[in-house]
Amino acid sequence: MSKKYNIVSIIRKKRDGESLSSSEIDYLIKGYTSGELPDYQMSAFTMAAYLNGLNKEESAQLTRSMLHSGIIVDLSMIPGKKVDKHSTGGVGDKLSLILAPIVASAGVPVPMISGRGLGHTGGTLDKLESIPGFQVDVDLERYKEIIDKHRLVLVGQTKEIAPADKKLYALRDVTATVESIPLIAGSIMSKKLAEGIDALVLDVKYGSGAFMKKQEDAMELGKTLVDIGLEFGKETVAYITNMNQPLGYSVGNWLEVEECIHALHGEGPEDILELSHLLSGTMIYLGGRAESVNEGISISKMQVQNGEAFQKWLDIVDEQGGDISVIRDPDSYVKAKFEFELKSPEDGYINEIDSFQIGMASLELGAGRKKKEDAVDPVAGIRLGKKLGDKVKKGETILTGYTNKPSVMETAVEILTKAVVITETKPKEEDLVSHVIDKDGIRAFEL
Ligand code: URA
Repeated sequence: MSKKYNIVSIIRKKRDGESLSSSEIDYLIKGYTSGELPDYQMSAFTMAAYLNGLNKEESAQLTRSMLHSGIIVDLSMIPGKKVDKHSTGGVGDKLSLILAPIVASAGVPVPMISGRGLGHTGGTLDKLESIPGFQVDVDLERYKEIIDKHRLVLVGQTKEIAPADKKLYALRDVTATVESIPLIAGSIMSKKLAEGIDALVLDVKYGSGAFMKKQEDAMELGKTLVDIGLEFGKETVAYITNMNQPLGYSVGNWLEVEECIHALHGEGPEDILELSHLLSGTMIYLGGRAESVNEGISISKMQVQNGEAFQKWLDIVDEQGGDISVIRDPDSYVKAKFEFELKSPEDGYINEIDSFQIGMASLELGAGRKKKEDAVDPVAGIRLGKKLGDKVKKGETILTGYTNKPSVMETAVEILTKAVVITETKPKEEDLVSHVIDKDGIRAFEL
């Protein structure tokens, strides 16, 4: 029989900055997964881990214990290298919905397990569920059946796949314990290693809308994630990308799906297309369908131009129970009952868009959760009229907010007014992608 520990002593050790043994971490994760350890004790542990950190060995053990809280899916019956992508989280980050159909349509199987909104950031599952009827909860047999049929599956964790992360993710979301390198690494890598992949592409974000505000912290997180992936024998590539403004123009679940539909028709926005093609090009390369990332990018662009990526998107929405009529005709989707505009108080340039605040305002409008059991409103959110560096005239619309809850509009406007800074001079343009990390280490990004 495995050793029993006193949970309070484990929490106290971490609270006091001591290191935990591998079996203590394993005991904690097993207890939480089985339901023996209550949320309040796990919350105390995650806060202690957030404040005092975990060393390399503790961090590796956390990932291992979370991974082995469920099964590791065997997808060997599906031909080809299976490749997935994961982002560390951002505002308006809808890229998974664009690149997954692109890559699958190019012949590379993508078994994608995603999460819900976390803190101020949106989640792929909430976006998918804004499509009427779309089922993200499937069992393992159905998971395998869908990927076999379409080379693509877009789901949440099943009860078999990294169940520890499913519970911990929801708990961290509402206990202010998200922004921690070991907790993020354990969360991402446990579910990605469990889903049956051969290779992984990571979008590691820094900036106002990311969990890592500083570029060097994102680089440390990226290196941690890549090292874990390589240790488990998976080809892993991470890009360090800029999140100092939302990606694209839309923030909020259906609003983002709508923007993805346009992107899959090749109709911008520019930043979204650029990053989607880089990530999908890398996936196509790692999946063995291109000789280089550059060739992968060309294939990715072609899959959008020839309509195959959009067709794959329609097929997967249909297969997972979603209503494809709204994908074909996004204008037919139900609208939010209330909307408001934020106008520019002066002439100038958009110098700053605090993406964290944009995410918080969107959550306030109904697009995210304040408690684990909160429902999200698919039509709530924000549509930007301007991006960083754009010229703006006094009285021009900077953004529009959408909600079904008029009572939250005042708070949202208050947050948004402080989120946008206008100056007389145009700000310096920032690179969208700064570094790449892979088995050869970390280097400045260039194509
Ligand atoms: N994405 C995840 O899956 N987990 C985190 O903790 C953060 C981003």
